[in-house]
Amino acid sequence: MTSIRTRPFAAADRAAWDVMWAAYLAFYETTLPPETSADTWARFLAPAPGHIGLVAEDADGPLGFAHAILHAGTWSPKPVCYLEDLYVNEQARGQGAGRALIEALAKKGRAEGWLRLYWQTDTGNATARRLYDKVGKARNWVRYDLDL
Ligand SMILES: CC(C)(COP(=O)(O)OP(=O)(O)OC[C@H]1O[C@@H](n2cnc3c(N)ncnc32)[C@H](O)[C@@H]1OP(=O)(O)O)[C@@H](O)C(=O)NCCC(=O)NCCS
Repeated sequence: MTSIRTRPFAAADRAAWDVMWAAYLAFYETTLPPETSADTWARFLAPAPGHIGLVAEDADGPLGFAHAILHAGTWSPKPVCYLEDLYVNEQARGQGAGRALIEALAKKGRAEGWLRLYWQTDTGNATARRLYDKVGKARNWVRYDLDL
Protein backbone atom coordinates (compact mmCIF):
# COMPACT_ATOMS: atom_id res chain seq x y z
CA MET A 1 0.00 0.00 0.00
CA THR A 2 1.52 3.34 -1.02
CA SER A 3 1.58 6.10 1.52
CA ILE A 4 -0.23 9.25 0.37
CA ARG A 5 0.36 12.60 1.99
CA THR A 6 -0.94 16.08 1.32
CA ARG A 7 0.85 19.43 1.47
CA PRO A 8 0.55 23.01 0.14
CA PHE A 9 1.70 23.79 -3.39
CA ALA A 10 5.44 24.21 -4.01
CA ALA A 11 7.12 25.93 -6.97
CA ALA A 12 8.51 22.55 -8.10
CA ASP A 13 4.93 21.28 -8.64
CA ARG A 14 4.40 23.55 -11.64
CA ALA A 15 5.07 20.97 -14.36
CA ALA A 16 2.95 18.30 -12.65
CA TRP A 17 0.18 20.82 -11.94
CA ASP A 18 0.18 21.94 -15.59
CA VAL A 19 -0.42 18.36 -16.71
CA MET A 20 -3.10 17.66 -14.07
CA TRP A 21 -4.83 21.01 -14.63
CA ALA A 22 -4.97 20.38 -18.38
CA ALA A 23 -6.43 16.91 -17.75
CA TYR A 24 -8.97 18.37 -15.30
CA LEU A 25 -10.02 21.01 -17.84
CA ALA A 26 -10.24 18.31 -20.52
CA PHE A 27 -12.49 16.30 -18.17
CA TYR A 28 -14.79 19.35 -18.18
CA GLU A 29 -14.32 19.74 -21.97
CA THR A 30 -12.84 23.16 -21.36
CA THR A 31 -9.71 25.01 -22.36
CA LEU A 32 -8.41 28.22 -20.86
CA PRO A 33 -5.96 30.81 -22.18
CA PRO A 34 -2.44 30.04 -20.86
CA GLU A 35 -2.38 33.37 -19.02
CA THR A 36 -5.51 32.40 -17.08
CA SER A 37 -3.94 29.12 -15.96
CA ALA A 38 -0.71 30.94 -15.08
CA ASP A 39 -2.67 33.39 -12.97
CA THR A 40 -4.55 30.57 -11.20
CA TRP A 41 -1.28 28.76 -10.48
CA ALA A 42 0.32 31.93 -9.08
CA ARG A 43 -2.65 32.63 -6.82
CA PHE A 44 -2.43 29.18 -5.23
CA LEU A 45 1.37 28.93 -5.08
CA ALA A 46 1.85 32.16 -3.12
CA PRO A 47 -1.63 32.03 -1.70
CA ALA A 48 -3.76 35.06 -2.43
CA PRO A 49 -6.18 35.84 0.44
CA GLY A 50 -8.49 32.87 1.03
CA HIS A 51 -6.74 30.64 -1.52
CA ILE A 52 -5.76 27.13 -0.43
CA GLY A 53 -3.95 24.82 -2.83
CA LEU A 54 -3.11 21.26 -1.77
CA VAL A 55 -1.21 18.53 -3.56
CA ALA A 56 -1.57 14.82 -2.79
CA GLU A 57 1.59 12.86 -3.45
CA ASP A 58 3.32 9.56 -2.91
CA ALA A 59 7.02 8.74 -3.09
CA ASP A 60 6.92 9.08 -6.89
CA GLY A 61 5.48 12.60 -6.90
CA PRO A 62 2.14 14.45 -7.21
CA LEU A 63 -1.02 12.37 -7.66
CA GLY A 64 -3.67 15.07 -7.51
CA PHE A 65 -4.62 18.53 -6.30
CA ALA A 66 -7.35 20.56 -4.64
CA HIS A 67 -8.13 24.27 -5.10
CA ALA A 68 -10.27 25.80 -2.37
CA ILE A 69 -11.46 29.32 -1.60
CA LEU A 70 -12.19 30.40 1.97
CA HIS A 71 -14.75 33.18 2.20
CA ALA A 72 -16.98 35.00 4.64
CA GLY A 73 -20.65 34.12 5.04
CA THR A 74 -23.79 35.67 6.49
CA TRP A 75 -25.15 32.92 8.70
CA SER A 76 -22.12 32.79 10.95
CA PRO A 77 -19.03 34.86 11.69
CA LYS A 78 -17.05 31.74 10.83
CA PRO A 79 -15.72 31.48 7.27
CA VAL A 80 -16.87 28.80 4.85
CA CYS A 81 -14.68 27.02 2.34
CA TYR A 82 -15.59 26.26 -1.26
CA LEU A 83 -13.69 23.34 -2.74
CA GLU A 84 -13.69 24.49 -6.35
CA ASP A 85 -11.47 21.93 -8.09
CA LEU A 86 -10.46 18.38 -7.15
CA TYR A 87 -8.47 16.11 -9.41
CA VAL A 88 -6.51 12.86 -9.14
CA ASN A 89 -4.45 11.37 -11.97
CA GLU A 90 -6.32 8.56 -13.71
CA GLN A 91 -3.70 5.93 -12.87
CA ALA A 92 -3.75 6.94 -9.17
CA ARG A 93 -7.51 6.82 -8.66
CA GLY A 94 -9.18 4.59 -6.09
CA GLN A 95 -6.18 4.68 -3.75
CA GLY A 96 -7.39 7.36 -1.38
CA ALA A 97 -5.77 10.52 -2.81
CA GLY A 98 -9.10 12.30 -3.36
CA ARG A 99 -10.29 11.41 0.11
CA ALA A 100 -6.93 12.52 1.57
CA LEU A 101 -7.28 15.96 -0.08
CA ILE A 102 -10.80 16.49 1.27
CA GLU A 103 -9.80 15.24 4.72
CA ALA A 104 -6.74 17.52 4.78
CA LEU A 105 -8.96 20.53 4.03
CA ALA A 106 -11.46 19.43 6.69
CA LYS A 107 -8.66 19.04 9.23
CA LYS A 108 -7.36 22.53 8.46
CA GLY A 109 -10.89 23.88 8.73
CA ARG A 110 -11.53 22.27 12.11
CA ALA A 111 -8.23 23.63 13.41
CA GLU A 112 -9.00 27.14 12.11
CA GLY A 113 -12.67 27.23 13.09
CA TRP A 114 -14.35 27.26 9.68
CA LEU A 115 -18.10 26.65 9.65
CA ARG A 116 -18.23 24.33 6.68
CA LEU A 117 -16.49 22.90 3.66
CA TYR A 118 -18.72 22.61 0.58
CA TRP A 119 -18.46 21.68 -3.07
CA GLN A 120 -20.61 20.79 -6.06
CA THR A 121 -20.49 18.26 -8.84
CA ASP A 122 -22.48 17.15 -11.84
CA THR A 123 -25.30 14.88 -10.67
CA GLY A 124 -24.02 12.35 -13.23
CA ASN A 125 -20.42 12.28 -11.94
CA ALA A 126 -20.84 8.83 -10.38
CA THR A 127 -17.13 8.30 -9.66
CA ALA A 128 -16.79 11.52 -7.73
CA ARG A 129 -20.09 10.97 -5.96
CA ARG A 130 -18.96 7.56 -4.68
CA LEU A 131 -16.30 9.45 -2.75
CA TYR A 132 -18.48 12.43 -1.86
CA ASP A 133 -21.29 10.29 -0.49
CA LYS A 134 -18.79 8.86 1.98
CA VAL A 135 -17.29 12.11 3.21
CA GLY A 136 -20.13 14.64 2.89
CA LYS A 137 -23.88 15.09 2.73
CA ALA A 138 -25.61 15.67 -0.61
CA ARG A 139 -28.05 18.62 -0.64
CA ASN A 140 -31.09 18.85 -2.82
CA TRP A 141 -30.23 22.26 -4.20
CA VAL A 142 -29.92 23.36 -7.80
CA ARG A 143 -27.21 25.78 -8.86
CA TYR A 144 -28.14 28.73 -11.10
CA ASP A 145 -25.59 30.71 -13.12
CA LEU A 146 -25.95 34.13 -14.66
CA ASP A 147 -22.80 34.57 -16.69
CA LEU A 148 -21.51 38.14 -16.72
C1 LIG B 1 -13.26 12.28 -8.10
C2 LIG B 1 -11.79 11.94 -7.88
C3 LIG B 1 -11.05 13.20 -7.44
C4 LIG B 1 -11.68 10.89 -6.77
O1 LIG B 1 -10.33 10.70 -6.47
P1 LIG B 1 -9.76 9.26 -5.97
O2 LIG B 1 -8.39 9.51 -5.48
O3 LIG B 1 -9.93 8.25 -7.03
O4 LIG B 1 -10.75 8.95 -4.78
P2 LIG B 1 -10.40 8.00 -3.55
O5 LIG B 1 -9.48 6.92 -3.97
O6 LIG B 1 -9.97 8.85 -2.41
O7 LIG B 1 -11.82 7.40 -3.28
C5 LIG B 1 -12.42 7.50 -2.06
C6 LIG B 1 -13.55 6.52 -1.94
O8 LIG B 1 -14.41 6.46 -3.07
C7 LIG B 1 -14.41 5.15 -3.62
N1 LIG B 1 -14.16 5.22 -5.04
C8 LIG B 1 -13.50 6.18 -5.71
N2 LIG B 1 -13.46 5.89 -7.02
C9 LIG B 1 -14.13 4.74 -7.17
C10 LIG B 1 -14.44 3.93 -8.29
N3 LIG B 1 -14.07 4.28 -9.52
N4 LIG B 1 -15.13 2.80 -8.07
C11 LIG B 1 -15.52 2.46 -6.82
N5 LIG B 1 -15.25 3.19 -5.73
C12 LIG B 1 -14.57 4.31 -5.91
C13 LIG B 1 -13.27 4.40 -3.02
O9 LIG B 1 -13.66 3.08 -2.74
C14 LIG B 1 -12.99 5.15 -1.76
O10 LIG B 1 -13.69 4.64 -0.67
P3 LIG B 1 -12.90 4.30 0.69
O11 LIG B 1 -12.03 5.50 1.00
O12 LIG B 1 -13.99 4.09 1.68
O13 LIG B 1 -12.11 3.09 0.35
C15 LIG B 1 -11.15 11.36 -9.16
O14 LIG B 1 -11.91 10.27 -9.59
C16 LIG B 1 -11.04 12.36 -10.30
O15 LIG B 1 -10.10 13.16 -10.36
N6 LIG B 1 -12.01 12.33 -11.24
C17 LIG B 1 -11.99 13.20 -12.42
C18 LIG B 1 -12.21 14.66 -12.06
C19 LIG B 1 -13.41 14.84 -11.18
O16 LIG B 1 -14.48 14.29 -11.40
N7 LIG B 1 -13.22 15.67 -10.15
C20 LIG B 1 -14.27 16.01 -9.25
C21 LIG B 1 -15.05 17.09 -9.84
S1 LIG B 1 -16.30 17.70 -8.76
